[in-house]
Amino acid sequence: MRAAPGCAAPSPSRGTGWGGGETPTTLADWLSAATTGLQAALDLTRREARLEAQLLTGHGLGVDRPWLIAHDDHRLRPRQQEDLLLLLARRLGGEPMAYILGRRAFYDLELAVTPAVLIPRPETELLVEAALERLQPEAPCRLLDLGTGSGAIALALARHRTEALITAVDRSAEALAVARANARRLGLGHVRFVLSDWYAALAGEVFDLIVANPPYVAEDDPHLQRGDVRFEPAQALRAGPDGLAAIRVIVAGAPAHLRPGGWLLLEHGHDQAAASQTLLAAAGFEAVFTLSDLAGLPRVSGGRLPGHAAA
Ligand SMILES: C[S@@+](CC[C@H](N)C(=O)[O-])C[C@H]1O[C@@H](n2cnc3c(N)ncnc32)[C@H](O)[C@@H]1O
Repeated sequence: MRAAPGCAAPSPSRGTGWGGGETPTTLADWLSAATTGLQAALDLTRREARLEAQLLTGHGLGVDRPWLIAHDDHRLRPRQQEDLLLLLARRLGGEPMAYILGRRAFYDLELAVTPAVLIPRPETELLVEAALERLQPEAPCRLLDLGTGSGAIALALARHRTEALITAVDRSAEALAVARANARRLGLGHVRFVLSDWYAALAGEVFDLIVANPPYVAEDDPHLQRGDVRFEPAQALRAGPDGLAAIRVIVAGAPAHLRPGGWLLLEHGHDQAAASQTLLAAAGFEAVFTLSDLAGLPRVSGGRLPGHAAA
């Protein structure tokens, strides 16, 4: 796990409004103090901080939010207090909630995540929707997810296209282990996981649709020093001086791995739509388009190979 300088976990009691030996012992007091600490340290609204405090506490105690709400007079045992303080300290140190909880909701799935994988983002659901719109519900087809990470895109597609044969590729063996475990837990057996540098291990294989959320952040982008991304794997984020290195390779290689009429769909940075469209057109794609996310930012571009529409 990568932490930015100055990002070491603080003392558990820092920012929580109490000092050593004064840890609140009822759940209500604990939640109130943890909320105050999180709000101050992470610049959250009170509501966001309260939700995080509840999620951390539920995780630490092994209970759900309704239980917490119904038991605010529960007295915490010393061992429970210690465990909760350690979880809170991790969050106060900036560690993403998804890594602390070990899970993140994506599309209609609950995915296990570890620091070996990018935390799936809501924006990426747009890519899943764009792919589903281009695939007949019951038709057998072959799909490729490049840079699968936790398996988010491949598994969301697998859930909604049960006739599809899906190949999910990543260069990280650790990421593939997370994705495989997610597929097993979700009972999605029609996904094959392949360790590969993009298309390298797929010689001669052809797909109806290729989807990718590749790394697309420029090496010197200051956002890499802020928030959750400080803890995410560099190879999931960084893509050369202009952030387009991976997109160039994926677009250039796609025609050799798509049937005529097959689609390539890509997520990219909000300022990379024009460059992505230019790359797609230069590689011979037609019907090139860009979709914007809920915030109105251009996020997904794609195109179709000339020829008979396969999907
Ligand atoms: C932005 S993350 C996307 C993860 C996941 N698809 C998602 O949307 O949450 C990019 C992924 O591409 C993988 N990757 C980076 N370079 C790669 C390469 N040369 N070949 C295959 N995968 C690569 C990273 O390991 C990472 O899992």
